[in-house]
Amino acid sequence: MKATAVAPSNIAFIKYWGVKDEILRLPKNGSISMNLSELLTTTTVEFNPDFYQDSITVNNIQEIIEGNRIIKHLDRIRKLANSDLKAKVISENNFPTSTGLSSSASGFAALTVAGAAAAGLQLSEKELSILARQGSGSACRSIPDGFVEWLDGDTSETSYAVSLYPKDYWDIVDVVAVVSTIKKEISSTEGHKLATTSPFFDRRLQLNKEKMRLVKHYIKEKNFTAFGQLIEAEALELHAIYLTSHPSLIYLLPASLRLLHLVKKWRQEGLEVYFTLNTGQDVHLICEKKNAKKVVQKLSVLDEVQNTIINYPSKGAHLIKKHLL
Ligand code: PMV
Repeated sequence: MKATAVAPSNIAFIKYWGVKDEILRLPKNGSISMNLSELLTTTTVEFNPDFYQDSITVNNIQEIIEGNRIIKHLDRIRKLANSDLKAKVISENNFPTSTGLSSSASGFAALTVAGAAAAGLQLSEKELSILARQGSGSACRSIPDGFVEWLDGDTSETSYAVSLYPKDYWDIVDVVAVVSTIKKEISSTEGHKLATTSPFFDRRLQLNKEKMRLVKHYIKEKNFTAFGQLIEAEALELHAIYLTSHPSLIYLLPASLRLLHLVKKWRQEGLEVYFTLNTGQDVHLICEKKNAKKVVQKLSVLDEVQNTIINYPSKGAHLIKKHLL
């Protein structure tokens, strides 16, 4: 009745933003991502008839049970397993949470895999992805390996992620530049609901299918230049939607903006690196492995950068034997 899983966070190259169904977390559009080797959540779940209430500890802090998203997810698992046993959950991230580093993706993927196993469920990768999606949309992409596509789908059964290529397919790197560890004011869950208030959101959706086709083509051809240009434009488009939503969502800090300018400058000087961004202030710098050291060196002398995390493509969520409790 006890299981532990490790799951990676992921960085979207084509972003999920906006929901067709808030409860089921069906996205307005498809998305493409890569799992990240150094942004990991480890979670142990134990269901036990001796527990009289659920208890959740994340990064050594006991969580309040009321309205808790983790409890809601345990309820989904209990429903599937036809069980009413209470659970103990211990979860640890090896990186700061709620700063745009997608702790909800790794968190809900790890919770899904550990929780399903602890409940005695034997779910396929597709079923795990569908379940993870309901906890946090982007978590569905942390289930399969490597480079991943989330098929948007109009129903719960058709909205899940699949692996396009395994982790060793392409030697690209995501150097995360942490510019601040302050927590964002508006979470992604709340932000998704505002997407349609941007006058540019419909246009964004119209362009999504072609963008998805192109990014898959560039990944297939390993055309890093075309790929980089496309994902950088996509990140800026996402933030254009944020800025023009009502209320407006302004996640970038002066330090983030300085990095965006620098990335363009470094490119002009011959270092091929592109940026992408999520719902937060940190900047993800994408480059080929051969350039990763140079990128880290450039970042290391900047006062704005508190920390860098070098991520390689990674496998998806999986069970491990060592429990946290
Ligand atoms: O899964 P959520 O609700 O945390 O939303 C993720 C939103 C973005 O990170 C901005 C885009 C994405 O596809 O990961």
